[in-house]
Amino acid sequence: MKRKFFSELALALALFTISGCNAEEPVNITPGSKKILIAVFSYTGNTRQAAQAIQRKTGGTLIEIEPETPYSQDYQAVVKQGKEEVDSGFLPKLKTKAANIRDYDVIFVGSPIWWYTIAPPVASFLHDHDLSGKTVVPFFTHGGYGIGHSLKDIRKYAPGAVLAGEFELDRDSLKEMDARITKWLKEIGVGQMTGNKQTSLIRTTDSIQDIVNHPAFRDFGRRLLPWDDDRNYDVPLDQVATLLPYHSNVKPAEAAASLNRLIGDANAGKTVFYDIYTEQEKTAVPAKRNTGLFFYRGEPGAPFAVVNPGGGFVYVGSFHEGFPYAAEISRKGYNAFVLKYRTGGGQYAVEDLAAALKFIFQNADELGVGTKHYSLWGSSAGARMAAFIGSSGLFPKPAAVVMAYTGQSEFTRNDPPTFSVVGSEDRIANPAAVEHRAQEMKRAGIDVEFHRFRNVGHGFGSGRGTGAEGWIGEAVKFWEKHIL
Ligand SMILES: Cc1cc2nc3c(=O)[nH]c(=O)nc-3n(C[C@H](O)[C@H](O)[C@H](O)COP(=O)(O)O)c2cc1C
Repeated sequence: MKRKFFSELALALALFTISGCNAEEPVNITPGSKKILIAVFSYTGNTRQAAQAIQRKTGGTLIEIEPETPYSQDYQAVVKQGKEEVDSGFLPKLKTKAANIRDYDVIFVGSPIWWYTIAPPVASFLHDHDLSGKTVVPFFTHGGYGIGHSLKDIRKYAPGAVLAGEFELDRDSLKEMDARITKWLKEIGVGQMTGNKQTSLIRTTDSIQDIVNHPAFRDFGRRLLPWDDDRNYDVPLDQVATLLPYHSNVKPAEAAASLNRLIGDANAGKTVFYDIYTEQEKTAVPAKRNTGLFFYRGEPGAPFAVVNPGGGFVYVGSFHEGFPYAAEISRKGYNAFVLKYRTGGGQYAVEDLAAALKFIFQNADELGVGTKHYSLWGSSAGARMAAFIGSSGLFPKPAAVVMAYTGQSEFTRNDPPTFSVVGSEDRIANPAAVEHRAQEMKRAGIDVEFHRFRNVGHGFGSGRGTGAEGWIGEAVKFWEKHIL
């Protein structure tokens, strides 16, 4: 069976050639980020106390969230007013806005629980600030009835943020606050501050070398990178766009937030990286050491997605088209892998994707992923990989293939349902050709959803801040349509 698999793959690869991309696109660089922000609303002082403990332990900047009209000193009156405000979704005006929120990567947001959710001033704070791509770390105090639907509401008011593991403390545990906060910070990967040192979360001012050497990425840190040697190690993450010439709209904060999600899981003792080749295979072909799967866990047993970043088979743009996508897909409850594949030609990349799928199928139970209704995602060169394997018949047919901006024109009648996006200003993948393929596939009876985004070029990644923003969520919905 194994032999048949590989001979079929070899045959398929022999028939398959992929050319690299070679045009440049303008890049956007988000300004560097600085340290940690702790924003807290507190009516009777408990949550403020927690915020102060977090401040002492992280060295972050503490700000108070204050409504323009202060709440009355009459507790019972506030309990009643709080209910009315929560029930009506009222967003009180705040005294001030945090002026320099863009400078922060990690924002702790503290709230007392009011009627099973966050207090309205905290909802206003989340609503008033753009927290896209930021790591938001919620913490709560409450009277013993739990945090209710607070996390769902935080997601609603800060849809683009990456949520880190929350902290809660009830009335009876207030005296254990300090020890509990220390333990929690360790679990989510925020190291204790000594003097003015950084936390163990990645910030956009960290260099590529800092990321590679991060303790959570021991033994495989290099495989996070677009390339396989140690060039550009001094470049800070906030200038990584200069190293991704086929990409645009690169968001360093988004990359940092998605790396921090992996760090949180690693600190909680979860495996976040898997080799796809055996030692024997790597000895025979040393370049196979440059491959592997990063794992963003969703619900146990949920279907999985494999995300293939692009880079013209010259580099692998996981920072831009890999980790941020996987973080978003896993936030929706699905398991998501990012494939680091070999560069140098499509045939190696496709062989690596096949090896990755074989690994996932063989180890699904241990990984905790469902093998039915999986999806293959790819951007640019990565989309060619996804489309090729998706229709190859080498594996069970995926429930969906998600393709971003690739000029691939061929397809077969056997192609899976396909979600396809392109920017109208793409100079690498011709938008008309992408649309033509989608139409032809539809004509052949394949379910296809196609989007052409105006004023967007090649390599836009998640598209945050452009007309393409939100496409990943739409692609997940398309996939869900085919999870029967
Ligand atoms: C308007 C209001 C609503 C509340 N609703 C809840 C609740 O739904 N569940 C709960 O456990 N505690 C509830 N409490 C208690 C507070 O969450 C708890 O005392 C909290 O620690 C107060 O934090 P603070 O001192 O930072 O204001 C409520 C308190 C107020 C004033």
